[in-house]
Amino acid sequence: MAAQRDDASLFTGRVGLVTGAGSGLGRSVALALAAGGARLVLMDRDADGLADTATSCPGSITVAGDVSQGADMMRAAEALDGLGPVSLLVTAAGILGPTVPLPDVEEEAWDRLFAVNVKGTWLALKHVLPRMIAAGGGSVVTLASGAGLVGNATFPAYSASKGAVVLMTRSVAACHTAQGIRANCVCPGPIETPMLRETFASAGDGAAEREVFFRTRNPMGRFGTPDEVCAAVLFLLGDAASYINGVALPVDGGRLA
Ligand SMILES: NC(=O)c1ccc[n+]([C@@H]2O[C@H](COP(=O)([O-])OP(=O)(O)OC[C@H]3O[C@@H](n4cnc5c(N)ncnc54)[C@H](O)[C@@H]3O)[C@@H](O)[C@H]2O)c1
Repeated sequence: MAAQRDDASLFTGRVGLVTGAGSGLGRSVALALAAGGARLVLMDRDADGLADTATSCPGSITVAGDVSQGADMMRAAEALDGLGPVSLLVTAAGILGPTVPLPDVEEEAWDRLFAVNVKGTWLALKHVLPRMIAAGGGSVVTLASGAGLVGNATFPAYSASKGAVVLMTRSVAACHTAQGIRANCVCPGPIETPMLRETFASAGDGAAEREVFFRTRNPMGRFGTPDEVCAAVLFLLGDAASYINGVALPVDGGRLA
């Protein structure tokens, strides 16, 4: 953790938006950036979680809202205008959705999954990229998943939504590099957050078995920590990654090796 906080000092004075900042990976990134002096707008639909994060992010602005709603995302983007030129965006808000085979997914659940994971990422880009471009450029890191790089039998709908996030991110790099934007994607494997626990719980009586399966198929034989993902996000956001653009970086202990 200490090493990440030192790295985050590279972000002193920079302004950005972190979605999904009320829990897990988004919270970890928000805390690390704020500890290094970044001034942040923190967005999440969970107002209590957001407030908890904000207590350790001095000077941050919280926006309780739904990333899939354009009006909510516009509020978050307008809050950025009060902080100064925008150069950072991290999209960590996401949901797991139904963990059933594709024919069994309910239409409403599919729509909600794509509204949050795909439309929510797009809305953040839609409202933040113009501000970054006006500021002379910046860096974007989206949170996809290892399940966005290969098919997944446990949560295939989620896998499809994260595949869309990967190519949306690469397309930002393809479209906006000349305007000073770098965009990269972090693709975590199983990381110890509430979402991972939800993945196991969704197996009902098979929860313990699913946990063992996820753990043992990973070459490292363990789950990752939010700080291990945070380190990759900070690296890709920062100037040390100045020639890295359009990548989808697995942070998964070698699961996809
Ligand atoms: N934990 C893992 O194993 C793992 C693995 C791969 C990818 N990811 C991805 O990383 C990101 C962060 O996941 P996490 O593990 O921290 O999960 P988490 O559930 O701990 O945190 C997700 C956060 O997103 C927020 N959120 C969900 N829907 C929202 C909406 N519509 N509007 C605003 N906020 C919303 C939640 O309130 C929560 O605070 C997600 O995109 C997830 O898909 C996680």
